[in-house]
Amino acid sequence: MASFVLALFVLLISINVIILVERRRRRRMRRLGLPPGSFGLPLVGETLQLISAYKTENPEPFIDMRVSKYGSLFTTHVFGEPTVFSTDPQTNRFVLQNEGKLFESSYPSSISNLLGRKSLLLMKGSFHKRMHSLIMSFANSSIIRDHLLVDIDRLIRFNLHTWGGMVRLQDQTKKITFELTVKQLMSFDPGEWTESLRKEYLLLIEGFFSVPLPFFFTTYGRALKARTKVAEVLRLMVRERKERRAREGGEKQKDMLGALLEDGDGGFTEEEAVDFMLALLVAGYETTSTIMTLAVKFLTETPVALAALREEHDSIQERKQESEALSWSDYKSMPFTQCVINETLRVANIISGVFRRVMSDVNIKGYTIPKGWKVFASFRAVHLDQDLYKDARTFNPWRWQSNPPAASPGNIFTPFGGGPRLCPGYELARVEISVFLHYLVTGFSWETAEEDKLAFFPTTRTLKRYPINVRHRKVV
Ligand code: HEM
Ligand SMILES: *[C@@H]1O[C@H](CO)[C@@H](O)[C@H](O)[C@H]1NC(C)=O
Ligand SMILES: *[C@@H]1O[C@H](CO)[C@@H](O)[C@H](O)[C@H]1NC(C)=O
Repeated sequence: MASFVLALFVLLISINVIILVERRRRRRMRRLGLPPGSFGLPLVGETLQLISAYKTENPEPFIDMRVSKYGSLFTTHVFGEPTVFSTDPQTNRFVLQNEGKLFESSYPSSISNLLGRKSLLLMKGSFHKRMHSLIMSFANSSIIRDHLLVDIDRLIRFNLHTWGGMVRLQDQTKKITFELTVKQLMSFDPGEWTESLRKEYLLLIEGFFSVPLPFFFTTYGRALKARTKVAEVLRLMVRERKERRAREGGEKQKDMLGALLEDGDGGFTEEEAVDFMLALLVAGYETTSTIMTLAVKFLTETPVALAALREEHDSIQERKQESEALSWSDYKSMPFTQCVINETLRVANIISGVFRRVMSDVNIKGYTIPKGWKVFASFRAVHLDQDLYKDARTFNPWRWQSNPPAASPGNIFTPFGGGPRLCPGYELARVEISVFLHYLVTGFSWETAEEDKLAFFPTTRTLKRYPINVRHRKVV
């Protein structure tokens, strides 16, 4: 009995202490003008809650709960730092537009070690601007139309040609996007060489999503080793190309490496070129292949949408000669496909938002966010906001036909980010996904081979790599 009373006593005291501490913290936050919120546990903050939510198919409660408690801007503590989460479209836009002025992109050092010191993703200022516009001018729509589309068509067709029986869609789309990127970067056709580069590259990618702590050291350590190997291969490519250009002069290759070496302002160093190509391999690979896979998943689960998409592509196919490649005007006559892609980007949100470091105290919506803090602009929270999109959490490609939500004020749909760091691959990704969907729906019918689920941490993906059984509809 006595011990019971004692236990009760201790419990009451601790509850009181917790309430007191919590109250004092809230008062302090209000005094400092911080958005309301909670720092969670010491050290880990709310990281564990965030991770466990994003490991499930439905991570929304993590944000929903906090938004209903604190409002659209709230303070938390994740991945070792105090962070303000924004679920507000105007604030997100403000953060993106003020990149380099009030905010700057920021990655943990474990990631910058893998990317390389001269990676575009880590660059700032005028050098970043130059690199960004270089990619923009390499991947803009007229370049895709005149140069890239023909290889996109050929390589996708070539890959799908080998399909039969059970395929794990996520593996296949990754193989496709890797081959496309290598071709676009340095004009290499797929072969043993690209496959062995890809194996190293896969180890490198794993490193991005491993925790760089001693007990996870193996994955991260392997990734660092793989980075050295991939960089070595790329360095050889750069060197070879430089020598060939010096030997042959005039003959220029219309690929990214060519554009890089051609760039007026004195060209780029070897290290810059290598890190640059690595960044492009990273940026276009997971993202585009995952959207391809998830578009198929959502279509499979929404047969009416699949039927409508197939009708659009069958009618394009009927106009064409056997094995005639898709042209730019074919791409431009796929309106429903663009709705499907937008809706997949909206619902799946492969980049769920961006982290930025606050460069000097910033006033937003009556709050002050201190210099040195992080802001997470959540695109996902906006895209899945029930007040902004009707039935926001259902896949409905038709919503893009009538009263397009993308037209709402303030550009609330930002799957490719915005401002100075707007994704320079946005059109390229759209074209690749469209061509892939064309050959998939015209060439095959399929059903899922196994139940599969989505997860959002460490990246958006399907847990079983989305296995489907495919049958040829007609020869691709
Ligand atoms: C569905 C596919 C894709 C999605 C959803 C996507 C999304 C994004 C987003 C949200 C950003 C902004 C990151 C930030 O602000 O910190 C970004 C940046 C970037 N993306 Fe993409 N991307 C996709 C495909 C591609 C492709 C195919 C390429 C290849 C050319 C590419 C190259 C880049 C590069 C180089 C950056 C960095 C830009 C900079 O920091 O200046 N992306 N992407
Ligand atoms: C695309 O970039 C090229 C240079 O690479 C430029 O000549 C062309 O005008 C650009 N086109 C568009 C539509 O911006
Ligand atoms: C898809 O989204 C983009 C913005 O990323 C927008 O410009 C475009 O109009 C949308 N497409 C459709 C069919 O609504």
